[in-house]
Amino acid sequence: MKKVLEAKVCVVTGAGSGIGQAIAAACAEAGAQVAVLDIQAQNAATSAERIIAQGGRAVAVTCDTSCEESLDHAAKHIAQTLGSAQILINNAAIFRSGPLESFSLSDWNRMLSVNLTGYFLACRRFAQPMLATGEGKIVNIGSLSAESVVPNMGPYSAAKAAVVALTRQMALEWGPRGIRCNVVHPGMIETPATAAAYVDSNSRKARERAVPLGRVGRPEDIAQAAVFLASDQSAYVHGAELTVDGGFGRNLIGLIPRLPGPA
Ligand SMILES: NC(=O)c1ccc[n+]([C@@H]2O[C@H](COP(=O)([O-])OP(=O)(O)OC[C@H]3O[C@@H](n4cnc5c(N)ncnc54)[C@H](O)[C@@H]3O)[C@@H](O)[C@H]2O)c1
Repeated sequence: MKKVLEAKVCVVTGAGSGIGQAIAAACAEAGAQVAVLDIQAQNAATSAERIIAQGGRAVAVTCDTSCEESLDHAAKHIAQTLGSAQILINNAAIFRSGPLESFSLSDWNRMLSVNLTGYFLACRRFAQPMLATGEGKIVNIGSLSAESVVPNMGPYSAAKAAVVALTRQMALEWGPRGIRCNVVHPGMIETPATAAAYVDSNSRKARERAVPLGRVGRPEDIAQAAVFLASDQSAYVHGAELTVDGGFGRNLIGLIPRLPGPA
């Protein structure tokens, strides 16, 4: 891979698993020094160890992105060990499902505190040095759910839609001050969070059929898009949403039974 992030310090949240782990690895492969943030200390350590074993540079940082104090502590530790971050990739999220009418307020608040407020807090904290130097890139991991809602995933969809709005806001306020801000929307990606959906081979095949490219996504598919948006290769891409879903989001009519012909 081209070293498009050479000498950059890059923070990836939720990097102890799935998409975040792949993003952290891809950033390191692209030459960045990576701060691997996760609420699960052991998983953060494992991700960082894998990067180091591949010859990359990484530090594991245990951090709850929904907690301002925890983020402040993490940012200070990263500044001391790697230097100020020029790149932030917000990815940490939790998944709780249930019908809206019985969704508890505490679950609603927890979902939004990680999946939305956590993004805001991380952006605000790590933007400080970026605003001071006039250089930074922020990539927020969204979801197709921001646009195409899924039954029983109300707070998740609401948070992801708000992440898009937050990114647009940041693009407007921070773009003139040197920070590029964009969103990546993953489609169906096989990760520990979604593994249950792929245990049954019929369920897997049905999902594969729904994707025009004929396969479910891999964490690495999202990682490549994140590296692109974090690098100068995307120098004029700002306030944008990049969907990485194998075309799944364009397949609405293809999902219903149809007769041959135009009907
Ligand atoms: N997998 C998919 O199909 C899919 C589709 C669309 C969007 N996404 C998005 O991609 C991102 C990653 O999803 P994934 O499938 O890799 O999930 P995952 O559960 O495998 O990874 C999420 C990571 O975030 C960490 N985390 C959770 N709460 C945290 C907190 N408060 N502070 C710090 N870390 C925390 C978890 O410990 C975990 O390591 C999420 O933003 C998710 O919404 C995933």
